[in-house]
Amino acid sequence: MVYGKILLPGLALFLAAAALPASARNDRSRAAAVYMDASAPIEDRVEDLLSRMTLSEKIYQLNQYVLGENDNTNNIGDVVEECPGEIGSLIYFGESAVTRNAMQKRAVEQTRLGIPVLFGYDVIHGFRTVYPIPLAQAASWNPDLAARACRVAACEAASSGIDWTFSPMVDIARDARWGRMAEGYGEDPHLCSVFAAAAVKAYQGDSLAAENSIASCLKHFVGYGASEAGRDYVPTEISRQTLWDTYLPSFKAGVDAGAVTLMSSFNNISGIPGSANSYTMTEILKGRWGHKGFVVADWNAVEQLINQGLASDRKEAARLAFNAGLDMDMVDGCYQEHLASLLNDNTVSEERLDDAVRRVLRVKFMLGLFENPYTEELPESERFLLPSSLDVAEQLAQETMVLLKNEGGVLPVGDDVSCIALVGPLAKSREDLLGSWSGRGRAEDVTSIFDGLSSALSGRAELLYAQGCDFEKNDTSLFAEAVSAASRADMVILCLGEKRSWSGENASRSTIALPPVQEKLLAAVKRTGKPVVVLLSNGRALDLTRISPAADAVLEIWQPGVRGGNAVAGILTGKYNPSGKLPVTFPYTTGQIPIYYNRRSSGRTGMQGRYQDIPSTPMYGFGFGLSYSDFSYGTLTVCVDGSGNRVSSGEGVLDFTLGQTLTAEVTVTNTGDTDGKETVQWYIRDPYCSVTRPVRELKHFEKQMIASGESRTFRFEIDPVRDLGFVDSGGNPFIEPGDYFIMVGDQKVTVRLGSPE
Ligand code: NOJ
Repeated sequence: MVYGKILLPGLALFLAAAALPASARNDRSRAAAVYMDASAPIEDRVEDLLSRMTLSEKIYQLNQYVLGENDNTNNIGDVVEECPGEIGSLIYFGESAVTRNAMQKRAVEQTRLGIPVLFGYDVIHGFRTVYPIPLAQAASWNPDLAARACRVAACEAASSGIDWTFSPMVDIARDARWGRMAEGYGEDPHLCSVFAAAAVKAYQGDSLAAENSIASCLKHFVGYGASEAGRDYVPTEISRQTLWDTYLPSFKAGVDAGAVTLMSSFNNISGIPGSANSYTMTEILKGRWGHKGFVVADWNAVEQLINQGLASDRKEAARLAFNAGLDMDMVDGCYQEHLASLLNDNTVSEERLDDAVRRVLRVKFMLGLFENPYTEELPESERFLLPSSLDVAEQLAQETMVLLKNEGGVLPVGDDVSCIALVGPLAKSREDLLGSWSGRGRAEDVTSIFDGLSSALSGRAELLYAQGCDFEKNDTSLFAEAVSAASRADMVILCLGEKRSWSGENASRSTIALPPVQEKLLAAVKRTGKPVVVLLSNGRALDLTRISPAADAVLEIWQPGVRGGNAVAGILTGKYNPSGKLPVTFPYTTGQIPIYYNRRSSGRTGMQGRYQDIPSTPMYGFGFGLSYSDFSYGTLTVCVDGSGNRVSSGEGVLDFTLGQTLTAEVTVTNTGDTDGKETVQWYIRDPYCSVTRPVRELKHFEKQMIASGESRTFRFEIDPVRDLGFVDSGGNPFIEPGDYFIMVGDQKVTVRLGSPE
């Protein structure tokens, strides 16, 4: 891991200052002020405090500085020479509350108004207890379990002095070359929306003021995932219709779930960068959606408006971003430098300034920072890697893993297997299982695949290890050892995939196939004739054209976090039954990108519009995943609630009128001999609409455990306006009379909305 140390020359000074007695500037009357009265309504407190603030104090609130160690090489900024106690926020890289408390003391006790600092950090998929990457979490189709992991993250982060996480990332990603696909919940607006809401609620808890609640931040607002050719930071071309259909819904879901902040995106949205886009930040977010929290810039995003060709200098960049609705500047200092003179020039209004400050203060009051500015300093053993936290990490990891192929039921490993060859560059890696943006996670906390399997197979089967090859170096000298181990074993488990640095920010790849040396290693061990199980650890969809056909079984394990090795071992040995399903389409090859399941229909069918050299269908579609159980779906039935009218799949059309609701129902039976979880996915389609609609759209899903031989009924309660209606390119919802398909598995029922009288 590369650490860029951002050391503050001013820090020593700063901490020394914290030890001084309260400054004379401290307003002694503040104890009696309304804003310090915890029983007063938050809005009254905000107004009272605002009315006491000087221009300089207001501007400080709109600036975020950085302090501490930074593990993201893209985020290494200028050394902060001075860190005034009046600042709005700090990006904080500490693991203990000690530095935070010293800094907070300075803000609270040695500034005139005593406004606490807001400490933010990227707690993306765990703080110290690192759990699977967000893309993997979506593969669990279990938002409640993902929420439990977010709760663990919130507790660990809060105990370390963090008030605010820059998570969840709810960008829709349909180009797997983009490294940040790992950080989001995949390609589908509905799946992403459900996980967005679950994460926000879990981070923020029932009350933001509660001890272990942290504020969430929906990012990157908006359309960052549409980056052209999968390159990071580049422009995006997004029509208004696509903005509303595809990129905004997950943000809306997060806002509805209570997210108090959003981060503006780096991308240029069809000419207007996300960080200077008044349509998205002011008109939509603050206007139509009524969001009362604040928008923070992404790192240096205000200054980057110059590179993007919108602003000619930092002052103009500050004006454009601020007037567009971006409230807090992250790190680059443009607001700090220029807001006062922009006010003086009358190119920024006092109303806008007060609006932005109000928003920041509101979040601070909601977090209870004025009442509880400090964090209790507890030992790490009481906060990190607790058994219950590790258990959540393991449960989530095992539910995220997707069984893509299992020919001849080679998995789970049978009792007849007494010797296994564990091969591949990932078999012993700990660090790579952490994935990108792994908070304060450490490689030594991780159970590797080798460790997990060694203990699971102990006394049951022998494990032979051979690395086989490097991740990408085209050196085949280690193949012989791997082939020899494979020849001696009954089965090969081949651990292939990506290094953690191959995904994340600024980590685009031109091909999503694995490096040739890994594919060659598979071919070499396959030639032994032994069954080969391929485990894949990666942060994006992969091109498996040369992997999948050569393997007997393929298990996608993603980047599963600290308990990854235990989860893998559990699935391979049958302790866990795989239940993950793909949250992104796995294309046949990179050349199919962008590819996603919910496209609009083509004008021509059959052989027309197809590739000449490759199939046009993906290797593994969205929502695909096998189980050790077999699930059989009964007949899909849809009824009009309260009317007794009902139609089953294969029958006629079900009529309904606006104002009525529908219920779709299917019973699923586990016909296998293993208990297992099944996720039922409900899709809809409007076959003819004044704005053409996708061939399928996920609208609801539910995961349930079904014991062997038992059945469970799954329901989709359909609110037609919500589930069958759409928005136009102006974001206005509408629903049209006519036919809609309700689909589950390979079954379909047509429902018909009558025209209004
Ligand atoms: C840049 C990244 O784009 C963003 O996701 C992250 O939250 C910030 N840096 C802060 O680290």
